[in-house]
This record gives sequence, C-alpha cells and structure tokens, in this order.
Amino acid sequence: MHSFSELSALFEESFNVRHFPEHTKTLYDPAQYILGIGGKRVRPVAVYMANELFSSLDEDSFNAACAIELFHNFSLIHDDIMDKAPLRRGQQTVHEKYGESTALLAGDVMFVQAYEYLSKIKPLYLPKVVALFNKTAKEVCEGQQLDMDFEKKETVSLEEYVEMISLKTSVLLGSSLQTGAILGGAGLGSQQHLYNFGKNIGIAFQVQDDYLDAFGIPEKFGKQIGGDILSNKKTFLLIHTLETANALQKKELSQLMNSNPPDKVERVLQLFKECKADEWATSLKEKYYQTALEHLEALAVQESRKAELKNLAEYLLKRES
Ligand code: IPE
Ligand code: IPE
Ligand code: MG
Ligand code: MG
Ligand code: MG
Repeated sequence: MHSFSELSALFEESFNVRHFPEHTKTLYDPAQYILGIGGKRVRPVAVYMANELFSSLDEDSFNAACAIELFHNFSLIHDDIMDKAPLRRGQQTVHEKYGESTALLAGDVMFVQAYEYLSKIKPLYLPKVVALFNKTAKEVCEGQQLDMDFEKKETVSLEEYVEMISLKTSVLLGSSLQTGAILGGAGLGSQQHLYNFGKNIGIAFQVQDDYLDAFGIPEKFGKQIGGDILSNKKTFLLIHTLETANALQKKELSQLMNSNPPDKVERVLQLFKECKADEWATSLKEKYYQTALEHLEALAVQESRKAELKNLAEYLLKRES
C-alpha cells in the first residue's frame, strides 16, 4: 500500500505528458495549459487508493484516473467561465488567457479525451466503469445548473445547498473511489461503502472550499477570494447568515446582494463573522466526516488498510489550497 504522496507522484509520472497532438496548437495548448499549472490530483489518487484496497495498481487504474482528472479539469474550465473567475491554481484561468470560445472548446476536447482513456479499460470492467462515469458526469452538470439557478434565488435551504454540492462536487469523489474498487474486483457492497465514504467527504470538501472562498489565504488558495460573494452564491455561509441575522443585518445583506458596491466582499464577510457563519463550518464538516467514517468502518477490509483513506479525508477537510 502506498501513501497519498507516493500515489500522487506515481500518477503524476504517467500523467505529466502531453495528452493532445501538436496541431491544432491554438486548441490543444490551452487544454494542456490547465493540466500543467498544478492541482492536488485528489480524484486520481482516490482511484488508486480504492484500487489498492483490493488489488495491485495496473494500466486500467491509470486510464480511469486519467479520464477522471481530465473530466475534472474540463469541468473547471467551464466552471471558471460560468463563475467569471480570473484565477485558478494561482494562474490565469483558461478563458482569461485564451478567450471564452477557445476555453469552451478546450474543455470539450478534454471531455472527449477522457473517453479515449476510458475506452482502453479491459472489457470485463469497461461497461461498469463507463456507466458510473456517465451517471456522475450528468450529475455534475445538474449540480452546476442548480448552483447557477441558486444565484438568482433570494433564499435557499441548507438541504437544497447540500443536494447541489453533492451533485456538483461530491459524486465525483465518490465515483473515483468506486471506480478504483470496481477495477480491483471488489463486490457491490464494498463499492457502495467506498462511494458513500467519498460522497460524504466530498460534501465536507465543498464546505471547506466555500469557507476558503471567503476566508482563505489568497496565495495558498490560488483562486480569487470573495468570488462566491460577488456572484451571490448560496453557500452555507450565506444560508447560515440569512437564517441567524437580526432584522438590521438581514436588511443590509439583502441590499448587498441586490447591488454591487465596491466594498461588497468586505461588508458581506463582516456579516458572516457577526453571525458566526465561519465557525459553523467546523461542525458542518464534522457531521459529514462522521457519516463518511461510518461507511469506512462498515467496509469489509482489514482496519490497517483503511488508514490512508482516513488520512486523505483529514487532509481534504483541513486543506488551505
Ligand atoms: C476544485 O477542486 C473544484 C471543487 C470541486 C471545489 P480541487 O480543489 O480538487 O481542485 P484542484 O484540482 O486541486 O485544483
Ligand atoms: C465547482 O464548484 C465544482 C465543479 C467544478 C464541478 P466551485 O465553483 O466552488 O469550484 P471552484 O471554487 O471554482 O474551484
Ligand atoms: Mg468556480
Ligand atoms: Mg462554480
Ligand atoms: Mg469554490
């Protein structure tokens, strides 16, 4: 069994190549650009970790991990267009650097390239892996649409928020783990526990992402701080603040959401703090972390072999980048 850093180095070694032809350069260079500016490679490592619980790593786990990382990066390019984000991984976003139309196409071609890698998987596992991949990709689109729909809604419940982040973020982590398990020959029960472990960690992971978007350290986070506030994203911070604010605070928040004063981010952050929304992140993450651990416990694998997954979860929930 390998550690997170060993697995991520192992993945990087094979992944750190050009995935696209030289021509047409104006299309493929932007696609290659986003892959080259970093990323934690959490999802491919999750594929590897789950795979290693049941068998040794092989070409199929690389192909699946590669497909998932390409899909993830494709979704980031399109997400940055939708979120009007200037920064990603501490660098210019693809649409800022190359223009929106190219960014759309670069994303599209990465999605196709993901299927190229998937299609190399052994026939024994291919249908299951592709079915899971397709289901997950559709769910990510649904989550992204809900995320945008919520921007325009005055209020969103915590339940709706959790559903939205489950779809846009956490199912991909769950399905990365399940994919690794499928390729390791695991039974359905184990696959499902790993999926649910990942899904719950993924929810807590997005809660942390939303926290960092407001309170992160810019140099570490690598994305624009306050982007969610500027877009009126219905994060748990906003939901909690709207629920607990007094009449005066509510009025101010609603005014800020319906206008764009230059000090909007600063003032919304102040309201978040007054309503202790930042402190609430810890308990919200803990709740989903505990549910995730229950699934890990129920997994019929020797306890000592689960340690790396626990480390992965802790790393993701405490991350600053
Ligand atoms: C960013 O994912 C998108 C979210 C789901 C929050 P990551 O935080 O895994 O991004 P990279 O790949 O490490 O840059
Ligand atoms: C995006 O959520 C999830 C997907 C890319 C599908 P965010 O919009 O919060 O991700 P970041 O913060 O831009 O990475
Ligand atoms: Mg975004
Ligand atoms: Mg987004
Ligand atoms: Mg975010």
